[in-house]
Amino acid sequence: MERVKKISVAIDGPSGAGKSTLARAAAKKMNFIYVDTGAIYRTAALHILRRGAEPGDGAAVAALLPEIGVTIAYDEAGEQRMFLNGEDVTDRLRTQEVSMAASSAAACPAVRAFLLDMQRELAAKNSVIMDGRDIGTVVLPGADVKIYLTASCEARAKRRWLELQGRGLPGDLEQLLRETRERDARDEGRAAAPLRPAEDAVLLDTTEMNFQESLDRMIQIIRGRTGL
Ligand code: DC
Repeated sequence: MERVKKISVAIDGPSGAGKSTLARAAAKKMNFIYVDTGAIYRTAALHILRRGAEPGDGAAVAALLPEIGVTIAYDEAGEQRMFLNGEDVTDRLRTQEVSMAASSAAACPAVRAFLLDMQRELAAKNSVIMDGRDIGTVVLPGADVKIYLTASCEARAKRRWLELQGRGLPGDLEQLLRETRERDARDEGRAAAPLRPAEDAVLLDTTEMNFQESLDRMIQIIRGRTGL
């Protein structure tokens, strides 16, 4: 039977903390929809890059918003697919170029306002585990569960490096560490919805945990707060 009350779980934290992998696995286990809001920002950023605009130029970026149509769909496997003006761009969103552009564009208040409603609508219609930077603080301040997932900068850069290696894309660990710090500083330091834990968030630091330990702890927190 369909659950009547929709449950929302907000997972925030810095890039590379394992939010998407953990949230996706937890959603599968709990039978919730997983919403990767970073992919929504990345889709908008891809358009900005394609148009040759500077992602950090708020006025230029705001001027492009009317021509950006971002939609989200789920395939048979339950995987989130991102569409930019009807084109499936899911496989184009994970480059370092798009990562940096998304972080810059996300500092623009007009971009955040533009993407807010679609995130709230998804949570109104479905039980969700939604990950991002401002889910517990801005997007879903009334979420049933809020988790702030983090790990040290070094651990996060190392994980990204291993992930790239696994995909046959050798990265430079020092450069990844620099970029991780740079993105943290920008995500935490921006005026619009800066990255920070919601007051009622449970802190989950995975620096010393492996994937399974982190997942078990996440599920335990969700079950503890929702009684599911
Ligand atoms: O989670 P991610 O690395 O895919 O996110 C890409 C960028 O988008 C990130 O640097 C910050 C921004 N972002 C945001 O500001 N708010 C969100 N809810 C999700 C992502």
